[in-house]
Amino acid sequence: MPIATTITSVLEVHVPGVGALCKQIAERELSNLRICQHDAVEVVRDMLPEASLDGVHVFFPDPWHKARHNKRRLIQSPFVALLASRLKPGGYFHCATDWEEYAHQMLEVLSVEPTLVNSADGFAPRPEYRPLTKFENRGIRLGHGVWDVIFRKK
Ligand SMILES: C[S@@+](CC[C@H](N)C(=O)[O-])C[C@H]1O[C@@H](n2cnc3c(N)ncnc32)[C@H](O)[C@@H]1O
Repeated sequence: MPIATTITSVLEVHVPGVGALCKQIAERELSNLRICQHDAVEVVRDMLPEASLDGVHVFFPDPWHKARHNKRRLIQSPFVALLASRLKPGGYFHCATDWEEYAHQMLEVLSVEPTLVNSADGFAPRPEYRPLTKFENRGIRLGHGVWDVIFRKK
């Protein structure tokens, strides 16, 4: 959430992604962000205590379009259950994608996680706080839609 006192941690594995983040942080003069260059699944599993997060954003995760690569997608039941366990009660889990089939997978996977409840009736309207990223801009240029999925921890 873009509140000055909120500390936000960004998880990114690849060096170019970390470089792009550093550039954005410098240009926007942000002081409330920390970057962890490591696999998100391992960080959430091994470094975060249960019920410790106010919110989680997973914006435009790699879509892995081809059916044979779908199993590499980040938003799958085991990771969602893990993330949900790290949210505080009332905390939120927000995913966004420009790949329609992945959007439906997100909605389905989050809907069956028993500790989460949908904040909307299906897909959520785009909240003001979600920034327009390079990946979203590319999707818009290609004529893709964008879908937001926002659930709350019970
Ligand atoms: C399609 S890009 C979107 C980046 C950004 N969220 C945006 O909207 O512009 C997906 C990013 O997720 C990163 N990524 C993929 N798998 C990851 C993982 N397991 N842990 C951390 N980062 C990961 C990739 O390196 C890539 O930079």
